[in-house]
Amino acid sequence: MPAIRETTMRAVRYRKYGPPEVLEVAEVPVPAPAAGQVLVKVHASSVNPVEAQVRAGRMRPVSGFRFPKGIGQDFTGEVVAVGAGADGSLVGRDVWGCVLAVGAATTAEYVCVKESLVGDLPPGADPVEAAALPTVGLAALAAVRAVGVGPGRRALVVGASGGIGSVALQLCRALGAEVAAVSAADNAEFCAELGATETYDYADLGPLAGAAAFDAVIDLHGTSLGAYRGRLGRGGRMVTLAARGMGYAALSLVLPGPRVRVTRAKASRDGLAALAGHVTRGELRPVVAKVYPMERIAEAHRAAETGHSRGKRVVQVVTARPARSRGEA
Ligand SMILES: NC(=O)c1ccc[n+]([C@@H]2O[C@H](COP(=O)([O-])OP(=O)(O)OC[C@H]3O[C@@H](n4cnc5c(N)ncnc54)[C@H](OP(=O)(O)O)[C@@H]3O)[C@@H](O)[C@H]2O)c1
Repeated sequence: MPAIRETTMRAVRYRKYGPPEVLEVAEVPVPAPAAGQVLVKVHASSVNPVEAQVRAGRMRPVSGFRFPKGIGQDFTGEVVAVGAGADGSLVGRDVWGCVLAVGAATTAEYVCVKESLVGDLPPGADPVEAAALPTVGLAALAAVRAVGVGPGRRALVVGASGGIGSVALQLCRALGAEVAAVSAADNAEFCAELGATETYDYADLGPLAGAAAFDAVIDLHGTSLGAYRGRLGRGGRMVTLAARGMGYAALSLVLPGPRVRVTRAKASRDGLAALAGHVTRGELRPVVAKVYPMERIAEAHRAAETGHSRGKRVVQVVTARPARSRGEA
């Protein structure tokens, strides 16, 4: 049983699929960590696009019809108890991580997570801001590894202003590559601040046709993939992380020219440690579009559903200090 006094906690739940307003803060039992799990007292969580898809009922074959459901993949917090067989020395550690499963429910005061899926929070990191990083950081890491970003290589990040894109841009720079960004025109300056040396507007890809060829393309939107693939130089590699890019990726197997691969985030302590290393070395910072208190998670979902972003929407679970907001209205 958890070594904590509370038996109930506040957690975001929903009782039916629907618009963001179905999300509510409910009082529910504190979960007990099973064998191999740790119990984390959650500081902050975030909103990922897939969570809005599940909540809206667009993934029913996998999300099923059992309610109430919880929500949230990312978490930062402190380990307060461990289950049988888990490492007791983790208690008291500041951690971060993500649960990459459709039934994940990290937007809650406590969450049980497999011991192998928690990493140490980078030293000195703000636990609210850091909640912007686990899922998108691991996704960006998988993408840069899949396309082989490194010194002397030219990379193009499509959807560069969003949650994954804002991390991918920084990782490409950290790994020594020259990086170009595709975003909305009004996010070009934001992408340049994150390290892009060339910026392109997805509404007018004409100028991109005149750019020098790229060694690597990381797509985070899944449209116009033929145009981006056409900008790859000899031996270049391209990857998409967007579900809507899967059709073109399959088509690329039979088209002349390079194949477009599909990749995904993989939750692991090693991946979290790699991200923490980049943060500690000052190469990567969480990019927070806005911090929402847990009670206002519906607003965060509405913002995520626009499909436009400057970084990540964070949900603050602890209320010890007022939620800060920056950027978004
Ligand atoms: N495979 C995985 O493991 C994995 C993990 C997480 C997420 N994902 C998927 O990856 C995608 C990106 O996730 P995210 O968290 O980065 O989403 P996000 O934060 O919502 O960012 C999406 C970005 O797409 C850009 N965009 C909008 N319209 C575009 C267009 N026509 N062409 C190019 N870019 C456009 C937006 O740019 P502006 O704001 O400048 O308009 C925005 O920055 C989503 O489909 C998500 O479901 C996959």
